[in-house]
Amino acid sequence: MKIGIANDHASVEMKNELVEYLQSQGHVVINFGTDSSESTDYPIWGEKVSNAVVSGEVERGIAICGTGVGIGITCNKVKGIRCCICSEPYSARYSRLHNDANVIAFGSRVIGIETAKMLVDEFINSEFEGGRHARRVGLMMDVEARNM
Ligand code: RB5
Repeated sequence: MKIGIANDHASVEMKNELVEYLQSQGHVVINFGTDSSESTDYPIWGEKVSNAVVSGEVERGIAICGTGVGIGITCNKVKGIRCCICSEPYSARYSRLHNDANVIAFGSRVIGIETAKMLVDEFINSEFEGGRHARRVGLMMDVEARNM
């Protein structure tokens, strides 16, 4: 799968480890930055990976900041993005099965690398179930359309 990944200064090390992990599984990973530990603003990076998901350049996105909250909220401001902000694998899995999430966000200051790998595994390997969930996702997107 082609996956986009983006992060702020708090999360460079976690990003690098995840890129290596995903590549070792045969995924193609596009790094949208930052690669610097100098203080930066997470919305810059959240928007980049979200735009890549919406344009179809990548199939799914991963967004990391200190808490996952700032970058995740940013991603959800981009039309067409359904970003799951989470720190445990159950939500990562069900964000795909029931919500058709296309970006996952988490915090490098909240979880460790092994949990991050579990989240990414669930997010990448779980498929949307459709059916009644498709109706609900449709309603969700109607809310977005009415409030843009
Ligand atoms: C940066 O210090 C921090 O605010 C950021 O990584 C993130 O936690 C914001 O939500």
